Amino acid sequence: MFPKWFDKWNDDNPTNIFGPAIAVGALGGAIFVAAMIVAWGQPYATAAQQTGPRGTGMHVQEFVSDLEAGDPTVIDYYTDEPFVPEEGEELAGDIYENVQVLGDLTDANFNRLMGAITQWVAPEEGCTYCHAGAADGNYADDDLYTKVVARNMLLMTRNINVNWDAHVNANYEVGVTCYTCHRGQPVPNNVWFRVGQVNSNAEGWPAIQNRATMTSNFTSLPSDYLEHYLLEAEDGGYNQIAVHDLESRVQQQPGDPLIQQTERTYAFMNYFSNSLGVNCVFCHNSRAFYDGAQNTPQWGTASLGIIMVQEMISEYLLPLEDVYPENRLGPVFGDAPLAACRTCHQGYQQPMQGLNVIANWPELNVIDGPPDYSAWEEAASE
Ligand code: HEC
Ligand code: HEC
Ligand code: HEC
Ligand code: HEC
Repeated sequence: MFPKWFDKWNDDNPTNIFGPAIAVGALGGAIFVAAMIVAWGQPYATAAQQTGPRGTGMHVQEFVSDLEAGDPTVIDYYTDEPFVPEEGEELAGDIYENVQVLGDLTDANFNRLMGAITQWVAPEEGCTYCHAGAADGNYADDDLYTKVVARNMLLMTRNINVNWDAHVNANYEVGVTCYTCHRGQPVPNNVWFRVGQVNSNAEGWPAIQNRATMTSNFTSLPSDYLEHYLLEAEDGGYNQIAVHDLESRVQQQPGDPLIQQTERTYAFMNYFSNSLGVNCVFCHNSRAFYDGAQNTPQWGTASLGIIMVQEMISEYLLPLEDVYPENRLGPVFGDAPLAACRTCHQGYQQPMQGLNVIANWPELNVIDGPPDYSAWEEAASE
């Protein structure tokens, strides 16, 4: 089939053509795949949210398939519309013996809320999780610690929705209910305790770092950043979350934050990013972390979040330390379990992926006095 001279040359020069053929085939295949990706886009589609000015690369990117899979606890959210109170209807404070927070609710809405907190916090255990005497119709006793804790949680949730509206309704009407943290279980995910030293072989600074722990997000950074920044310091203020201010760094002035504070700050920032499932440019322009003028609006929401968490802890969660049984207290210091960003956000930019959880629960969106049912009154009169 080939010319004679070729057959002769071929016989004189035997060559293994498989090696080169495979090489050419593999290279060709790679070029083909690359060309297809350029032409059709990569098969795992991504969605990007722009956070900063155009051209600065400030965006948060996620796989569309991850976004679609979503937060599995959202679908189990229990909610129910309120009963519009009628003129002169008797209130829970008059009907029951020991109602200290929810006294301004009508009986129907009081029981509706009791049913909901059972679904949100203790669906398996039921009413008896907070009312030991439920079987005998005794709901008034405060003999279970869970009921005492729950009453404080009611106050805390109301305070978050009313006074920290600028955080929990920053973009949409979203709000917070018990389910935002609890997700159908008595002990929420991502609660935390003081850890103190994690490296018993070392003294001083190294004793709080260089050990892969859950809290350090498995880095060598310090593990004690939550307690350092979110609990009140000895002087009654809060420790500054900062790496440097450029001037003092240059001049070595006293008061210049130590390199060690840099490590803590970065550990805390890792926690922020993991809590929300975002990267640093969601809040910062990464060329100048220190420069407030280049931060994104989300940075402002986060700053408010820090102060909100500090208040939640000092006013509502720490005071419960004497109420919890021993098995609920921290392993090292015997301290009360605390919440922070991750307890609500659970890996999502907006907790519950932006589901409006507060919509049907004006009872949790008021500090004092009767809840505002006007939205349902209008619907009822139409
Ligand atoms: C997660 C804890 C929790 C669960 C679960 C719970 N409750 Fe309550 N319950 C409370 C708290 C806290 C109060 C007091 C509210 C206050 O002080 O304003 C209360 C008060 C009551 C009262 C008023 C008792 C009185 O005389 O003072 C009744 C009635 C009641 N609950 C019924 C129920 C029913 C029925 C269920 C189950 C569907 C239930 N509760 C589930 C925490 C709970
Ligand atoms: C009590 C629950 C709760 C806690 C604790 C909490 N957040 Fe939030 N956060 C929310 C809710 C709810 C929203 C959604 C607000 C909206 O989209 O309207 C939100 C929104 C945000 C946003 C804006 C997201 C966006 O899309 O613009 C940022 C940033 C944020 N939180 C950061 C933090 C940080 C940082 C912490 C810890 C210091 C924190 N949050 C603690 C409930 C919480
Ligand atoms: C900001 C997050 C957050 C919100 C919102 C929240 N809780 Fe909690 N709750 C916690 C934390 C943290 C604990 C401590 C967990 C533990 O007991 O180990 C806790 C503990 C409890 C406990 C004790 C559980 C146990 O077995 O020890 C009860 C009961 C409870 N919460 C009820 C409620 C109710 C009812 C609401 C809504 C009115 C609510 N919580 C809202 C964070 C929250
Ligand atoms: C959800 C928003 C958010 C995310 C995500 C975030 N930060 Fe921050 N960051 C803040 C806020 C708010 C402050 C200021 C805290 C304060 O001063 O109270 C801050 C402060 C800092 C500082 C200190 C700046 C100074 O003045 O010294 C550094 C450095 C920093 N962040 C780095 C990072 C890095 C690195 C990442 C990614 C791993 C990151 N941040 C992710 C919100 C965020």
